Amino acid sequence: MTENIYTPDVVVVGGGVAGLTVALNLAPRKVCVITKSNLGINTSSSWSQAGIAASIDKDDSLEIHLKDTLKTAKGLANEAVAKKIISESFNVIKDLENIGVKFDKNSDGSFNLGLEAAHSHKRIVGSKGDSSGIEIMRGLINEVKQSEHITVLENVSIDSIMHENNTIYGVIGRFTDKNMPDNHVIIQSSHIVLATGGLGGIYANTTNPRSSYGEGIALAAEVGAILTDMEFVQFHPTGLDFGLDPTPLATEAIRGAGAFLVNQNNDRFMLSAHPDAELAPRDIIAQNIFKQIDQGNSVFLDCRDTIGDNFKSRFPQVHSYCVKAEIDPAKDLMPIIPVAHYHIGGVKTDITGRTSVDGLWCCGEVAATGVHGANRLASNSLLEALVFGKIVANEINSQPFKQEQQAINSNFLKTYKEKTRSKIRAKKYIWQLRSTMMRHLGIVRNETSILKGLSEIIRIERDSKGLSAKLNDMILVSKFIIVGAIKRTESRGCHLRFDYPNADPKFLNHIDQTQITMEQDIESILLEKDLPQEKTLAS
Ligand code: SIN
Repeated sequence: MTENIYTPDVVVVGGGVAGLTVALNLAPRKVCVITKSNLGINTSSSWSQAGIAASIDKDDSLEIHLKDTLKTAKGLANEAVAKKIISESFNVIKDLENIGVKFDKNSDGSFNLGLEAAHSHKRIVGSKGDSSGIEIMRGLINEVKQSEHITVLENVSIDSIMHENNTIYGVIGRFTDKNMPDNHVIIQSSHIVLATGGLGGIYANTTNPRSSYGEGIALAAEVGAILTDMEFVQFHPTGLDFGLDPTPLATEAIRGAGAFLVNQNNDRFMLSAHPDAELAPRDIIAQNIFKQIDQGNSVFLDCRDTIGDNFKSRFPQVHSYCVKAEIDPAKDLMPIIPVAHYHIGGVKTDITGRTSVDGLWCCGEVAATGVHGANRLASNSLLEALVFGKIVANEINSQPFKQEQQAINSNFLKTYKEKTRSKIRAKKYIWQLRSTMMRHLGIVRNETSILKGLSEIIRIERDSKGLSAKLNDMILVSKFIIVGAIKRTESRGCHLRFDYPNADPKFLNHIDQTQITMEQDIESILLEKDLPQEKTLAS
């Protein structure tokens, strides 16, 4: 086994918009950015379609953007954080333009703003209609490649944060390239930034890359970090139901451009479901589509009369997915399903991106800054990633830097190597877990479904124990979601419980968890609900 050792000032785990923004803003500190694939590949950032929310329109304002954000968040948003990101929106867009990112403009040079659900104004700054993520990442990657202070380690998966006596001192992982399976990587640093993205990969239907399975949450939990809001998983109403995994997204901006939803009987069911019909908040639309599907109906996006022949030029990326599926959006209905899209919860941070563990920072989807409350307003997430990328970099830059690296504990290394030695593939169990989470912890939940989900995850854990680090992370993350979902006995935002259909004012708070409290909670749930305990579950 070979080891490569790096000693930057800061290590950033994750190469999406949040990770690259932190790295660029840390100059002149030496930064190591770790990505699981090649830079820009398999990251949700590159796949994001609509763009960045910003109140630029002359009839819009920061106050109205804030009002929309808070209204959508159903009482749980952290207003100070929301104000912070919204007030910085124009600055981060200018930063991107300064590094060469091209946004869609009108002939007079003003931004060509798009509209998305629950925004009371056109507010989305995007690129090439639905290719904003690709363009923003192109600009950031270009800048990173010219930055001498940044070293990028591609195709590296991080397995653990190294820690001793409540002090973290680096990360350890391995190359994912099959040609060099035994090469381990150690990056020593007292400042670790997790920007690992979301966890859609633990659901059978998701718009996220399958490699987004919440490993940042697992890494942070293992060193004792506090997590919060884990039950809030946001489903996007319109994944393209072409039988693909992951599910390609049909951006909400398509509905913003006038497209509507129908079932196979041509019933435009959202008209009677909400005054804003197809532009109602995302949770409401996803839940109504789910209801239709549950009743045996199929649901489609109808763009024929509203966008028609302009579809290809306005939404080239979605058009290309349709062409591959032999669907012409100008003439055909597009079959859609709601899909796991964005995780609102995650590693709890303060307004500076600090976690509860000294030296550990988080930004982007892995972080729970509290800005999205119980339901995220569309396109506030790229905004949050860009703003917090800068904030975290500035905060770290203001910290004292240790010159000496802590010696690596040989016991830690031995345990790590034993833990990751197994090469047995865990595909079967990963698929079982993803199906379980989709079926029992999906768009709608109730106590019976959540407990079924818990029993199944425990069974998968028992049958698969130790097979793969990825599966172990997926199990851990699923358990946090289950505990949050069982404890929140109300419906709020994207957490919908059939058995508690209303919001309950006593839940106007956040459910914090650590790995220790989560394991204790699961033990109590198993006892209280008289479910089989881990050791006694029948195989
Ligand atoms: C979309 O383009 O519909 C997704 C935007 C978002 O999730 O913020």
